[in-house]
Amino acid sequence: MVVTTALAALNLLSLVQGTLVEFVPRASGSLDSWLATETPIALQGVLDNIGSSGAFTEGADEGIVLASPSKADPDYYYTWTRDSALTLKTLIDNFIAGTSDLESTIKEYINVETVIQGISNPSGSLADGTGLGEPKFNVNRTAFTGSWGRPQRDGPALRATAMIAYANYLIDNSQSSTAKDIIWPIVQNDLAYVAQYWNKTTFDLWEETQGSSFFTTAAQHRALVEGNALATSLGESCANCVSQAPQVLCFLQSYWTGSYILSNFASNGRTGLDANSILGVIETFDPEASSCDDATFQPCSAKALANHKAVTDSFRSVYSLNSGIAASSAVAVGRYAEDVYQGGNPWYLATTAAAEQLYDAIYQWKKIGSITITSVSLGFFQAIYSSAATGTYASGSSTFDALISAVQTYADGYMSIVEKYTPADGTLAEQFQRDTGAPLSASALTWSYAALLTAAARRAGTVPASWGSSNGNTVPTTCSASSATGSYTSATNTAWPTAPTSSTRPSCTAPAKLAVTFQEIVTTSLGQDIYLTGNISALGSWSTAASEAILLSAQDYRSADNLWYVTLNLPSGTAFEYKFFKNESGTITWENDPNRVYTVASDCGVSTACINDSWQ
Ligand code: NOJ
Ligand code: NOJ
Repeated sequence: MVVTTALAALNLLSLVQGTLVEFVPRASGSLDSWLATETPIALQGVLDNIGSSGAFTEGADEGIVLASPSKADPDYYYTWTRDSALTLKTLIDNFIAGTSDLESTIKEYINVETVIQGISNPSGSLADGTGLGEPKFNVNRTAFTGSWGRPQRDGPALRATAMIAYANYLIDNSQSSTAKDIIWPIVQNDLAYVAQYWNKTTFDLWEETQGSSFFTTAAQHRALVEGNALATSLGESCANCVSQAPQVLCFLQSYWTGSYILSNFASNGRTGLDANSILGVIETFDPEASSCDDATFQPCSAKALANHKAVTDSFRSVYSLNSGIAASSAVAVGRYAEDVYQGGNPWYLATTAAAEQLYDAIYQWKKIGSITITSVSLGFFQAIYSSAATGTYASGSSTFDALISAVQTYADGYMSIVEKYTPADGTLAEQFQRDTGAPLSASALTWSYAALLTAAARRAGTVPASWGSSNGNTVPTTCSASSATGSYTSATNTAWPTAPTSSTRPSCTAPAKLAVTFQEIVTTSLGQDIYLTGNISALGSWSTAASEAILLSAQDYRSADNLWYVTLNLPSGTAFEYKFFKNESGTITWENDPNRVYTVASDCGVSTACINDSWQ
């Protein structure tokens, strides 16, 4: 005990020019404004760790995602298949949501994974797929041959999920052949691996426990389901995905203990309460899920919520950082209560995951239109909303609103803990010290940054594409320990089609203004005029004064065609709201709500536009 305390004391102090400086937690401010500052830092933090141009990636090849720049205590100067895939999924979703221009980074990752898949290593080789289970590689794209917890069978599933997201983006953007020629060969190997080896023991995501791991099984099920859907979209097939996915889902059910998710089937002397399960739940989040499905452990499902409470509660008494925090409030979350690695501390990515599950759940309840509290999830709700009772509460009801607000506040509490223990420069290490909150273990951990980014995106209501959880994922009545042997082929094609360069691209710019004709079909009688007004100055800034609003012409009005129109030159790209109104000797009659909306085109070569409206 004395030794542990002394070590802990050393951990909480950092040596700066011979002086011991104590870590001072951040004063809590507005979470919104902190996240606005922190998310660009986190994105840059990720990019700084990706070779070859990342600031901290000396010696790392192009596309290699370092786990952390830390080279000693711990040495994380390697690329892990899991960390890289989770990080790239974040970047790909970010890119698809249009929040960043990351496509060259995405392609470089894909290129390097074609090489990594083929490297023979201590787990095996590509010939029979075994090599795909290798957890980490050297940054110069060679095998790491030291002893390690291997294989780790979540890697291929997570990598498939990241690449499938990008392949689906390409399909949606008329680039199916690129998805088929470059991405499908990589994904196909990973799916073959999952279908063949899902039922073999694995090291868990923490690289410590050999057995079966909820996170791994959940990731494998998801990959097989969306992998098969991708195959179908590309005119390919994945028969082994189809045969194995139901069996993986069947096995996934066995992790449920009756009150929480047992994260590992292994004899490791632990309770099984582990952030492994919360990370598994956010991995299996499907924004299009038609219900809060227990079978796929959707974030809003009763089982996943009961588990959230059990796991997060398990940390309340183990970290002094959490002492005195009410049961209704968020706490710092680590991997599992018995953890001793680097002293056994809270992790940034585990704490953001606890928030993220709840943001996902809020999204789902709003989308589904109700919250159902069952006897399984009652404890979760009562802890944060004492009058919670079993039942179904439709959106629009005051109970629904009150529950959403309680969950939102509770979720924000986890993010605020991360805020509190993030140093002033915004860097995110792997862990923060259990007594003081001082950052420790690997510095600038790529996965910590990626986890912050996804949690912040879910908080803002930005969600990834569906993986098809609602498409016939019925749990078979009997589970079987099956397997389907696949074939593996080296994926070598990295010849991305080149975008036209400036010399071959026809020069074309959008005109500064467009002649926009507003046509309104409205029956009028003599003495009535039709005007339009809107929220931009060119339309009179919502004024109805004849000098400000725009008078339309009745020049082409016929009894069979009650047309009023006007043509205005409006700046291209302008978005605005507008409405028509009648003016009869100063008496104004507005059209009904809602306001009309329009965006002037800003396309190359387009100089006119026509809006066809009729009186509403
Ligand atoms: C390094 C692993 O990455 C970490 O997860 C584990 O806890 C330690 N080794 C101790 O086994
Ligand atoms: C240790 C963690 O336990 C493991 O999950 C991770 O992959 C590696 N560190 C690298 O970040």
